[in-house]
Amino acid sequence: AAAAAEEKTIVIGLAADSGCGKSTFMRRLTSVFGGAAEPPKGGNPDSNTLISDTTTVICLDDYHSLDRTGRKKEGVTALDPRANDFDLMYEQVKALKDGVAVEKPIYNHVSGLLDPPELIKPPKILVIEGLHPMFDSRVRDLLDFSIYLDISNEVKFAWKIQRDMAERGHSLESIKASIEARKPDFDAYIDPQKQYADAVIEVLPTQLIPDDNEGKVLRVKLIMKEGVKYFSPVYLFDEGSTISWIPCGRKLTCSYPGIKFNYGPDTYFSNEVSVLEMDGQFDRLDELIYVESHLSNISTKFYGEVTQQMLKHSDFPGSNNGTGLFQTIVGLKIRDLFEQIVAERAAAAPVGAAAKA
Ligand code: ADP
Ligand code: G6P
Repeated sequence: AAAAAEEKTIVIGLAADSGCGKSTFMRRLTSVFGGAAEPPKGGNPDSNTLISDTTTVICLDDYHSLDRTGRKKEGVTALDPRANDFDLMYEQVKALKDGVAVEKPIYNHVSGLLDPPELIKPPKILVIEGLHPMFDSRVRDLLDFSIYLDISNEVKFAWKIQRDMAERGHSLESIKASIEARKPDFDAYIDPQKQYADAVIEVLPTQLIPDDNEGKVLRVKLIMKEGVKYFSPVYLFDEGSTISWIPCGRKLTCSYPGIKFNYGPDTYFSNEVSVLEMDGQFDRLDELIYVESHLSNISTKFYGEVTQQMLKHSDFPGSNNGTGLFQTIVGLKIRDLFEQIVAERAAAAPVGAAAKA
């Protein structure tokens, strides 16, 4: 049976290449929703799903139609649409949105095989994260909000080196080769999805250090589409103005190379957007409250909530820079969007529906 309108699942899409911070973002997001999401209990230990009271996060790799051997044989990458089953993705996301449980396949990242399916019940909030949440127009139309994590090549390279060389023992050459090998399909199938995103977090090398190539200090842009229902962009000082702000001084400690914010209107793929940019990093996370107090429309429930969230997860990558700050803010905006939709549905529900609840 389909759910009543006021119980319908809200669907969020999060797109990015692998190794670009999706799971870190998910941890920040579910924390804002009020509880860490965990793998399903008693199920396949290699399940990619995360579940909390309110939120279920599914990984779109589970819709690979070709397993690792199949991809090798056909000579296609996981990024190629031919390696993915968009019909099934659409059917199942639609079913969940309509309040119907599904038997979702599991792509086992350890074995590279498709495992027997797992039961997914309709949550309040469904997040679909992976390579292609906005690729298929039918799936895209089911999304209530969409986010694209746009990590520039320089930064992607720096992160991969850090992870694959330091933690997995790969060589510099092999990391370079694997990024190069993915690039044509990334450019063809993944990157174009950013034009559809309601919010894009773009991560670039700093401009505060001339010719920096370390990729440690980052310039991060939060690109927010105008005119999206239930989503009003964040602003700095004065909505719609163009502002450049260096908060370092008496109230904020900054060591080299400092911090710089920019804010203003812009266009992005012919859409009107507001862009908030932070270059540099915080020395002391508790002083973030000073920056937070100058931002408006951040959808906090109390003064200092952004700073509190950032302090709570100071061990997550990106906590001292714009990646963590903007991921946290987007999490708050999604909570706000969810609450607005729920409130609107409750108000529109027929008389007597409230008594049943
Ligand atoms: P994904 O889920 O997209 O594969 P993760 O969130 O697991 O990505 O992050 C992969 C790796 O990328 C992390 O282990 C870390 O090394 C690096 N990383 C991710 N986000 C950041 C960030 N904001 N700042 C620095 N490094 C990051
Ligand atoms: C998953 C990831 C892809 C990655 C693939 C590995 O599907 O989302 O980004 O490329 O696994 O594929 P491979 O064919 O190298 O095992």
